[in-house]
Formats: sequence, C-alpha cells, structure tokens
Amino acid sequence: MALNLRELQEQALRELADISDNEGLETWRVRYLGRKGALTQVLRSLASLPLEERKALGAEANEAKVVLLQGHVSASGRLRGNLTVLSKEAFDITLPGRPFPLGRLHPITQVIREVCAIFSSLGFQVVEGPEVEWDYYNFEALNIPPEHPARDMFSTFWIDFAGEKGRRMLLRTHTSPMQIRVMEKTAPPVRVVVPGKVFRYEATDATHEAMFHQVEGLAVDRGITMADLKGTLFEFVRLLFGEDRKARFRCTYFPFVEPGVDMAIDCFLCKGQGCRVCGNSGWLEVLGAGMVHPEVLDRVGYDSGVYSGFAFGMGVERLAMLRWGIEDIRLFFQNDIRFLRQF
Ligand code: FA5
Repeated sequence: MALNLRELQEQALRELADISDNEGLETWRVRYLGRKGALTQVLRSLASLPLEERKALGAEANEAKVVLLQGHVSASGRLRGNLTVLSKEAFDITLPGRPFPLGRLHPITQVIREVCAIFSSLGFQVVEGPEVEWDYYNFEALNIPPEHPARDMFSTFWIDFAGEKGRRMLLRTHTSPMQIRVMEKTAPPVRVVVPGKVFRYEATDATHEAMFHQVEGLAVDRGITMADLKGTLFEFVRLLFGEDRKARFRCTYFPFVEPGVDMAIDCFLCKGQGCRVCGNSGWLEVLGAGMVHPEVLDRVGYDSGVYSGFAFGMGVERLAMLRWGIEDIRLFFQNDIRFLRQF
C-alpha cells in the first residue's frame, strides 16, 4: 500500500506538470482528489486495516493529499498567470522577434581606414596630428609667409588667441602641417600618411564643404623622384578603384612643393562627358601633390642636397563620392540615417 501511495503521488504530479488549461486541471482534480478519486479511495480503504497499520498509512496518505492539494493550487495559479499576461499585454507569441539594431562605421571613416590600409601595405606609417594648429605649421613653415597670396587659397577660421610674439592659432586648413611636425621629430627616411579633419571658411556646394577630411602623404629619402610619386599614386588608385578608373596629372601651384601637380579621376556620373558634379570637365579633382620644396626640407634640418621627397594631400569625401557614385558631398554630414545605413 505504501508503495502504491508513493507511485500514485508521483504519477499525479507528473500529469499535473503537463496540464496547460483549466479543463485539464479539473479532470485531474476529479481523478485524484474527487469523491471517487484515487487518493480518496485509498483513504477510505484505511478503515478496514488494523490500528497500527492504519495509523502509519493514514499519516502517509494525508501527506500525499496535502502535496496534491498544494500542487493543484500552484497549477491553477500558473494557468491564471498565463491568462493575465496574455490579456494584459496582448502578447502574440507567433510574432517575429524585433531585430536588434546594429551600428556601422560612417562611410568617411570606412574610406579613411581603407586608404590607410592601402598605404600601410605600401610601407607607410599612419600618424595623426592636431586640428587646432599654429600659423607657423599651417602656413609659414610651408613657404606661405603672412601676406603671401597663396593664403587666399585657404581662407580659414582663426582662434581668438595670440601666443608668444603674436603667434596665432587656427583650425588647420589642410593636413600638410603634419609634414613639418613629422620631419622635425624624425630623421630621414620618412614614409607617413596622416588622416584627419580640416576646415575652410568657404561656401558649400555639391563638391565643397567647410569641414572635410584629408589624408596627407609624405615620403623623404635619398633619390626619390617624381616617378616614385606618380607610381605610388597610380598604384593607390588601382587598389582603391580597380583597373578601369582613369587618373590624370596636371601641373599646379602649391608653395611647399616644386613641381606641383593635382590629380583628378574620371567622373563617375557622366563618364567624362561633363556634368554638375565635375563642373563640366569630366574629371573630379581628388588630390594635390608634388616634390617637397628644398626650402621646406632645409627648414626642418634635412639636407636638401642629399634628400628629396614627395608629398600629397587627398580629399577623402571626393574619394567616397567616386567610390559610391554620390552626387552631393553635403549628404555625408546631414546625419540622415536613411542615407548613412546604405554603406
Ligand atoms: C591642399 O590642401 C594641399 N595641402 C595638398 C597638397 C599636399 C599639395 C601635399 C601638395 C603636397 P587642396 O586645397 O587642393 O590642396 O586640397 C586637396 C584636396 O582636398 C582637393 O583635391 C580636394 O579633393 C579636397 N578639397 C579641397 N577643398 C575641399 C572642400 N572645400 N570640400 C571638400 N574637399 C575639398
């Protein structure tokens, strides 16, 4: 009988755990605890047993009854709880889960990283420099003294602060000041690229912003020539854009290089026919470059009779526009998620 009682209790609890609705719970209650239920039958049958046996089994049967009653109460609570959640929150378990939003890198950051990876593979080191710069590094050390007409190319934001001997600070207009800072601190040979933000006080249009990004490049060693500059930049274009993109070099003037060039890439939009993005020229200018001016080398203590070098400064937004066929540079900084999430 004792064994039967234990088996009965275990079986009842097993069944109870699987019950998922009130109807099932009521059937279970009648089966075990009802007037003709299994446990009730056991309790009734005790009357015919001798006293000692009746006492022992009676205690056990009562314990089993308490366990089953408690099980019934908690199962009914469990079913009521399910119903409350369902009706309160109208929780539909068949709905698909909500996707977890995943961030991504800004397209300009992606291009900067790609450009730096390409130059790293060509043996260049990546360094960074200050965005607030001294007049000396931004202009004077680069052969642009006060009153030099080349300052007009870089109208800028001045900081309301005058340092020693009237030295002035500004938001850097290009990454070229880092050429000077790197050469002041490093003996040749030097091969660096410098990504970063630059600022110009100018009207914006489809290809111009007042804040944009450049990657500066500088290589100084014995025997570096214009052929090294051209070979490096053409290889860079091939690695970034593939074999089919055309690149063009033209002479231009920067006071800190001699000779100076600018490099343009065939316009993605009109395929060279001429449009609003390329100013009807069929080409989009992406960088300025040239051979480092001997006076710049001498100023930082390099012997320009022994060393020569090339430098370049590329516009990252222009590269990104060419890369993805984007028609207006201003889209990068309007923070419109619908635009940014495409990259
Ligand atoms: C310079 O800034 C020189 N420091 C580049 C240089 C470095 C020349 C080393 C020689 C040696 P420039 O002003 O042309 O040059 O700008 C370089 C590139 O920045 C341009 O080719 C263009 O791609 C990009 N750029 C210039 N102005 C803007 C602007 N307002 N908005 C977006 N991109 C610009």
